[in-house]
Amino acid sequence: MAIKLRQTNRPQPWLADPAPAANMVPPKDRGPVVNQDQAVTTQSYAIGIREQIIRANSHLHKDTVDLLAEMYRADALQGTKSRRPVPLNKLPRILIEQGATMNWLMRSHSVKRSLEVGFAYGFSTIWMLDALRPRRNALHVAIDPYELSLWHGIGLTQVERLASGVRFEWIENFSIHALSDLIRRNEKFDFIFIDGNHKFDDVIVDFYLSNQLLLPGGLVAFDDMWMNSVRSATNFIVNNLACEIVPQPVENMLVLRKTGYDTRDWRHFNTFEVLGSSDFAEQEPAASKPSGITRLHRVFGKSS
Ligand SMILES: C[S@@+](CC[C@H](N)C(=O)[O-])C[C@H]1O[C@@H](n2cnc3c(N)ncnc32)[C@H](O)[C@@H]1O
Repeated sequence: MAIKLRQTNRPQPWLADPAPAANMVPPKDRGPVVNQDQAVTTQSYAIGIREQIIRANSHLHKDTVDLLAEMYRADALQGTKSRRPVPLNKLPRILIEQGATMNWLMRSHSVKRSLEVGFAYGFSTIWMLDALRPRRNALHVAIDPYELSLWHGIGLTQVERLASGVRFEWIENFSIHALSDLIRRNEKFDFIFIDGNHKFDDVIVDFYLSNQLLLPGGLVAFDDMWMNSVRSATNFIVNNLACEIVPQPVENMLVLRKTGYDTRDWRHFNTFEVLGSSDFAEQEPAASKPSGITRLHRVFGKSS
């Protein structure tokens, strides 16, 4: 089985569920939206971003809306390691519709403990922390070895500014070490977002380790489904592991539900489709991330 990016023929349960349906409409039905990667110069653009966030998810806390609106329209942000705001590379952040969808999935699954690989400026972190707000004793863990060196602690500053009251832990380490340590501590999570290094083997390893931390019924989300490495890795996972695809409207993301523990025979192996060539420039980017491939490569190119 190969994962197709177009999901328009799939059942769309968010339209049938009265609670989230009010704010979770598929992107095509939302009318024109402001391009989040445009240069930010005018007040009307700022209002556009705020409205876009509220339209995408009306359950957000007001402080979260304020902070996210500021983050998405900012050209520079202050970090723990910077005296002045640092110019942002806008490519690594998740888009509003993706953050809104993750937030809705976490809320509708009553997630209490979430984890993400890839912290950077903290866009996904803020969306995820907001979803944990209503839960008692909730925890969010973010793993990133480069938070201070590459991202100036900007993500840490945004988490401080949100002051969500949710317990937050940042692990300054490569995902292989951080996830292995969490496994040793017998930690469990019910939502994991994989958005770290995007090479095929890194995605497989991040998933393999994350899957040990995930409770059955828990969800794992993969970013950047436009990349052949991520699509090939997820093709392997979907064809071989105990999981099912969770329908949701964001093409650039895949969400899987863990359906059980791994009980496969030691000889088990299902073939899977491998996409594309190893030449990064030949990959066909999806509409949501059309540019900056070289910069993206530089950011993700560091190996653990
Ligand atoms: C696309 S960015 C994450 C963006 C973030 N999720 C957001 O929405 O703002 C990818 C991140 O993965 C981190 N990263 C790269 N290799 C990693 C590794 N081996 N383990 C953990 N994080 C890694 C990078 O430092 C970078 O911050």
